[in-house]
Amino acid sequence: MQLEQIREEVKHILSEKRYKHSLGVEKRAAELGAIYGVDIEKAKLAGITHDIAKEMTKEEIFAYAQENGIQLSPIEREIPKVLHGKIGADICKKKYGFDEELQKAIAYHTTGAPDMDTLAKIIYLADITEENRTFDDLPKIKSLSETNLEEAMLYALNRELVSKIKEDKLIHPATLETRNEILKNRLK
Ligand SMILES: [Fe+2]
Ligand SMILES: [Fe+2]
Repeated sequence: MQLEQIREEVKHILSEKRYKHSLGVEKRAAELGAIYGVDIEKAKLAGITHDIAKEMTKEEIFAYAQENGIQLSPIEREIPKVLHGKIGADICKKKYGFDEELQKAIAYHTTGAPDMDTLAKIIYLADITEENRTFDDLPKIKSLSETNLEEAMLYALNRELVSKIKEDKLIHPATLETRNEILKNRLK
């Protein structure tokens, strides 16, 4: 299916606000994709669809996982919000025939994963740095994401972990594992 058709479908699935965010992520993913030499069409496809399952209820998420044989870890049952990545990836695989690279980019955008590839990192960072976002250290992450993908990921993951700790919120182990993986590679 073509990008325009998928965009149109996503527009009908999501609220206006989240569709606007998704368009922002598509645009930002294309910008970062150009810098890091990934397929721009793929960057756009992953960007527009990354939150396709974001507005499903907890019940819908659990029912979808059960019906489609998607394994959920105990921690994921405690923080089902993160599952819109995994579920969204499965939806796009079945609906649009997305390949593994696209599925990973969507699946990993909520928690990160130690085996993230360039496209997955781009989507993770595009989600945070798209044009509708506003937060204090946005300029810092934005400029890092354009110059050093690994350092930008480390900064974004640290920021995410610190905020979860400050708010006494559960942390998905993949976020910590991803951060450790990037640090290990950086020290090499
Ligand atoms: Fe999301
Ligand atoms: Fe998002």
